[in-house]
Amino acid sequence: MKVLTCSTLLTLLSASLLVSVDGCKKKLNDGNEIPDFAFGTFKLKTPTQSIRRAIEAGYRLIDTAAFYANEEEIGKGIRDVIERGIVTRAELFISGKLLNTNHSKEQVIPALKLSLKKLGLEYLDMYLIHSPMATTSEGENICLDYVKTWRGMENAQKLGLARSIGVSNFNSKQINRILTLCDVPPAVNEIEVNPTYPNLALVAYCKVNNIAVMAYSPFGYMVPRRYDLEDYSPPKFNDPYFVKLAHKYGKKTSQIAMRYLIDRNVIPIPRSDNPTHIQENIDVYDFKLTTKEVSTINTYDINTKVYELGFLRNNVFYSFYQS
Ligand SMILES: NC(=O)c1ccc[n+]([C@@H]2O[C@H](COP(=O)([O-])OP(=O)(O)OC[C@H]3O[C@@H](n4cnc5c(N)ncnc54)[C@H](OP(=O)(O)O)[C@@H]3O)[C@@H](O)[C@H]2O)c1
Ligand SMILES: *[C@@H]1O[C@H](CO)[C@@H](O)[C@H](O)[C@H]1NC(C)=O
Repeated sequence: MKVLTCSTLLTLLSASLLVSVDGCKKKLNDGNEIPDFAFGTFKLKTPTQSIRRAIEAGYRLIDTAAFYANEEEIGKGIRDVIERGIVTRAELFISGKLLNTNHSKEQVIPALKLSLKKLGLEYLDMYLIHSPMATTSEGENICLDYVKTWRGMENAQKLGLARSIGVSNFNSKQINRILTLCDVPPAVNEIEVNPTYPNLALVAYCKVNNIAVMAYSPFGYMVPRRYDLEDYSPPKFNDPYFVKLAHKYGKKTSQIAMRYLIDRNVIPIPRSDNPTHIQENIDVYDFKLTTKEVSTINTYDINTKVYELGFLRNNVFYSFYQS
C-alpha cells in the first residue's frame, strides 16, 4: 500500500491548487491552530535525540512539562532542528505545564518564564495547568483554588508568554467553574484517553464546550506498564480484533490505536525513544477506521487509568472522583 502522510497528501493537493497548506491542524476556541498529533516527553531516556527524530519524522506539537525535569534537553533538540533549517519556530507548536507547586496566581508567570528559559524559547504555544491539585514544594496537599491559578494563566496569555492556555487532568465540574467564573475558556484539556480508558463522557463534555482534547498515555495498558494489572487482562498489541484491523488496513496494531484516537477527534501524544516507533506512530494518515470499528474499540474499556494520581487523592480538588 502506498503511504501518503497527511502532509505529503496536502503538499500534493496544494501543488495542484497552487495554494499553500500547512498540514493537519485543528482550530482552537481562541482562534489559534493546533497540530492534530503530538509527541510526548515524559520519561524519555534520550530526550534531545528523540525530539530531533520526532521533528524530522513530522511531529510538530511537542508536549512538555516542568514536572518532567527535561526541559533543557528538549529545548536543545528543538533548537538543533531549527538551526539545521528542518523547521522554523513558527511551524512548531510547543506546549508546557505549570507545576502543582506553583499554583498561586503570582507564581504562574515566574514559573512560565523559568520553563521558557530552560527550553530556550521566547513563548509557548500552549501553557496548561498540569492538574487542579495544588501542593507545597514538599508535596503536601493545600487548598488553593485552581480558579485563582487560572487568573494567573490569563495574565500569562495577555503578556504573550503563552499564545493559548488550557488545563490538564480537570473533570467537567472543574472546567465548568472556570467557564462560569473566568474570562478566557480553556482551549485544551489534556487527559488520559486510549483503548483501555476511552474516557467517553469527559471527551464528549469537552467537545460540546469547544475544548480540544489532548490524549495522554495513548497506548493505555496495551503496552507494558510499571505496575501492570494482574486482576484484568487488558488487550495487548496481539489482541485478535486489533490484529484483524491491522491486516485489513495493512498497518501495525499500534497504528490502529493511534488512528482510533484521531478518528475520535482527539490529539494523540505517543512517547517513544525507539526510532521505528517514532516514525510508525505518526504514519497513520493513509487510512481511517469506520464508526463501527471505533465503537468496538470503545468496548475495550477496563475503567482503570494508567495514571490515577493516587498520591493526590486527599486533595480537596482531586479530580478523578468523577468524569
Ligand atoms: N498531563 C498529564 O498529566 C500526563 C500524564 C501522562 C502522560 N502525559 C503525556 O503523554 C505522553 C505519553 O504518555 P505515556 O508516556 O504514558 O505513554 P504512551 O505513549 O502511552 O506509552 C509509551 C510507551 O509505549 C512504548 N511504545 C511507543 N510506541 C510504541 C510502538 N509503536 N510499539 C510498541 N511500543 C511502543 C514506549 O516504548 P519505546 O520508547 O520503546 O517505544 C513506551 O514504553 C507523555 O510522554 C506525556 O507527554 C501527560
Ligand atoms: C515552583 O515550585 C518549585 C518546586 O517546589 C520551586 O522550587 C519554585 O521556586 C517554584 N516557583 C515559583 C515561581 O514559586
